[in-house]
Amino acid sequence: MPKRHLVTSALPYSNNRLHVGHVAGAYLPADIYVRYLRARGDEVLFICGSDDNGVAIEISALQTAQTPQEVCTFYNQRQKADFAGLGMAFDIYGGTHQPQYVKLHNRMSQEFFRRIHDKGHFVKRRTRQLYDGHHQRFLPDRYVRGTCPLCRDHETYGDQCEKTGAVIDALALIKPRSTLPPYAAPEVRETAHWYLRLNEFERPLREWLESKQGSWRPSVLNFALGQIRQGLPERAMTRDISWGIPVPLDDPDAAGKVLYVWFDAPIGYVSFTAALCVQRGGDEQDYRQWWCDPATPITHFIGEDNTVFHALIWPAMLMAEGQHQLPSAVVANQFVNFRVGGELRKISKSETPQDSPVWIEEYLKHFDPDALRYYLTAIAPETARTAFDTDDFVARNNNELVAALGNFVNRVLTFKSLEGRVPSRSAQTDFDRQHVARGAEAIEKVGRHIEAHRYKAALDEVMAFARLCNEHVGIREPWKTRKDNPPDSFAALATCIHGIHHLAVLVHPFMPGVAQRLRAMLGLPDEPPRWQAPAPLAEGHPLGPPAILIPKLEPGALTAGA
Ligand code: MF3
Repeated sequence: MPKRHLVTSALPYSNNRLHVGHVAGAYLPADIYVRYLRARGDEVLFICGSDDNGVAIEISALQTAQTPQEVCTFYNQRQKADFAGLGMAFDIYGGTHQPQYVKLHNRMSQEFFRRIHDKGHFVKRRTRQLYDGHHQRFLPDRYVRGTCPLCRDHETYGDQCEKTGAVIDALALIKPRSTLPPYAAPEVRETAHWYLRLNEFERPLREWLESKQGSWRPSVLNFALGQIRQGLPERAMTRDISWGIPVPLDDPDAAGKVLYVWFDAPIGYVSFTAALCVQRGGDEQDYRQWWCDPATPITHFIGEDNTVFHALIWPAMLMAEGQHQLPSAVVANQFVNFRVGGELRKISKSETPQDSPVWIEEYLKHFDPDALRYYLTAIAPETARTAFDTDDFVARNNNELVAALGNFVNRVLTFKSLEGRVPSRSAQTDFDRQHVARGAEAIEKVGRHIEAHRYKAALDEVMAFARLCNEHVGIREPWKTRKDNPPDSFAALATCIHGIHHLAVLVHPFMPGVAQRLRAMLGLPDEPPRWQAPAPLAEGHPLGPPAILIPKLEPGALTAGA
């Protein structure tokens, strides 16, 4: 029986275009992991979709005079196309308020809420909330901005400190202002909400997190354990807005209220799994095979700002609800900044030009998806923030991908005396055999790095083998022995071709398009490789036509429009 894995990438809010920071954070590493697991022979469900409910979408709709449904459907489609262009191997791309998914998602979210309610983990409280008299509405979360009550030195939205990632209480904001024009100073009004008693879960959460020491990234554990040390305050799981899932309680106080978007969004992982089971001809309840079986590890890939929700609140919800298992791993990446001509910038809707290649849609109009996958893995923000540097991108594309990988492959496969076939390796030397062994070792090492979520180190290992291949052909010099010692020249070439076959395995999780082109050039069927050292191709095996592996880029290619 193949091992099962459920892998998720954070559901992006469907009110914006995707940029390179999103991809480096929650999507590309997940896709690499999934492709690796599949190549290893495991059975994987890779779940994603858009986060359509809540304040962010409602505000975008207000700003653009559209309905929230129009906004979220428009961006759901665009984001889905971006992900497809980058080769994300999702099994499903749902959306918490998209027509095909909303019914099931609402039902599952409401059931989840009710079960937590019935088990007594919510407390209903009458509280005071910020209220915009001009718009006659409450101002939860992103409807309000003010100085962070924790750091006291910068402006932030009312839901989460933009600097530390801690959740905050909007009521505690210093000098709050509505984010709706004319940006009035809010008043305080009374309302009722359902609070999850997070403090009840401090101990089980701490024990659970401590059991992950040594396997999870320290940044995630330190942050989450630090929050527990400070004490986890109750969190309202309902909101006074109209765009979302109605609170499923028979209580007059629940009328007109919806579930907090961070309550229903992670349940999207579950409801999309159920939707997928149905799409594949099964039963909705089959989702339990993935969510309720401890033999199936669940791995969440997220950006750093989502840590509090995935490492604390969502696990607490799961503990409270009691029918699903906890995630096995939460893999968080830091932010990616953007550097043009040496100048560091933040990627944002208002400040980054519409046609900048940091927007995935723009990038894909002009450049190869695998070149971006390569660069974003090479600068992966695994332990610290990094910068997407347009000049560095071109340099690495040309010096690493084109020079180390592309040129080597081209040089070997266009060798005249091959006549389009794999030559005899009967005269292989010990040096050749050692080289092949290095390829097998690289496959093992890269696999171990990926399993430990060290994607950058994994890619370094792949490129180290590519450079070794260059060295090997440089030392063996098959062009010199071509005339006087053809068996030796052929054995060297056969070894190089075997090296390329190893590379086609190694690059697959990172650059599936490059892997596919390598396989085509080797005359192999168009299917994903198995994660194992490939056997040598038989003498006489016909090679495919040589092609360009990765195009070279002109200096400054990415700065146009940046
Ligand atoms: N929409 C959130 C964001 O973009 C992520 C939601 S992840 C999920 O920050 F768990 F809620 F799905």
